[in-house]
Amino acid sequence: MSELGDSELSLQKQTENVDENKINANNSNHEPPPKKHSSVVAAHYNHLEEKGLKERYNSPIFHLRNFNNWVKSVLIQEFTDKIREKDYGRPLRILDICCGKGGDLSKWQKVRPEHAIFADIAEVSVQQCETRYEELRRRCGRLFSAEFIATDCTKDTLRDKYKDPSISFDIVSCQFGLHYSFESLPQARRMLTNISECLKPGGYFFGTIPNANEIVSRAQKTQDYAFGNRIYNIKLLFDPKDGYPLFGAKYDFHLEGVVDCPEFLVNFELFKKLASEYGLELVYKAGFDHFYKDHWENHKQLFQRIMCFETYPAPNGKTLMGEESEYEHAKKYWDSKEYKADQNCIGTMSICEWEVATIYMAFAFKKLKCTQWSSDGKPTYTVSKETNQSTSKQ
Ligand SMILES: C[S@@+](CC[C@H](N)C(=O)[O-])C[C@H]1O[C@@H](n2cnc3c(N)ncnc32)[C@H](O)[C@@H]1O
Repeated sequence: MSELGDSELSLQKQTENVDENKINANNSNHEPPPKKHSSVVAAHYNHLEEKGLKERYNSPIFHLRNFNNWVKSVLIQEFTDKIREKDYGRPLRILDICCGKGGDLSKWQKVRPEHAIFADIAEVSVQQCETRYEELRRRCGRLFSAEFIATDCTKDTLRDKYKDPSISFDIVSCQFGLHYSFESLPQARRMLTNISECLKPGGYFFGTIPNANEIVSRAQKTQDYAFGNRIYNIKLLFDPKDGYPLFGAKYDFHLEGVVDCPEFLVNFELFKKLASEYGLELVYKAGFDHFYKDHWENHKQLFQRIMCFETYPAPNGKTLMGEESEYEHAKKYWDSKEYKADQNCIGTMSICEWEVATIYMAFAFKKLKCTQWSSDGKPTYTVSKETNQSTSKQ
């Protein structure tokens, strides 16, 4: 289990007093805000162009993308293994919420689920996800069955849109998307309801989000609360002098060729507290730097195969992705290596890409309660005998 580092301390201070009254007082207006922000996000993702292989290879964030994909693959692999350890052969049903264009389709294919539901607010992305799924099915012959839903997962009830609303999932995955729901308390609650209400007791919900503490601590070191490098820029749209609001802590995020829209900070202590109301208990959290340390040994083949790191020094006839000055850490290590003769290169990432990677964190929750529905269709969460023994190490 990893710690998130120094910035965690300031988060703890800020959230020590997060209780239900404060959460709700912070959002005295319980109506979700008008559609405007979500339309901006949907329009942004709808207009993102599909990149060809060559373009992706030449992208300034080639290794960062691969690294992010490695993190997602590891999460998917680790948590499906946990489920199968308990019940080998159980047909897995999964929900990929905020699925985008289906970047994780082939990762799901590897763990052979029986059925998967993909949901996202951006209609065009959902169509592309479906097209990719059909292509994959043509290529492999046999593939899991799937449903595709274009909807705002922070405002609409996903269960109403499933072919079978009594479906229960073994896994819910939300990759790089949950933070959009932290615009307001009702939106975060709707997202958590969508995530948890059909998740089986003993099932897992995992994902990746920007680490609010890391963002705020980097911003506090600047004059105008803006920072970045040649591939990313973040500008806070509020004054972080006294911390940040529990919801609606908005910032502009630009990541070369991938993201260019406003997002919201997720106060992790608050997220954890809210999630517990939905029967979810935190079982893992780590910044991407610690995630790498925790999982590299067991997943190094994939890490190397998908080229998460760049070769240093650059191989003959090739150049490094960034300026030489972005590899000082690698040079220092290279110069200090005792057995240089054994190894003619090392793997690394430019400091610019690493700065982006370490903005993010991964998390996983286990569903410890059963969902029951009241007569008006509202979910409630009751302790289940099967999962009453907590497995959390947090
Ligand atoms: C950075 S992308 C990640 C896509 C995918 N999970 C992946 O890892 O490749 C974030 C996704 O969240 C989706 N999203 C943002 N707000 C949403 C909302 N309110 N409801 C559903 N999806 C949303 C966006 O449309 C976008 O596809």
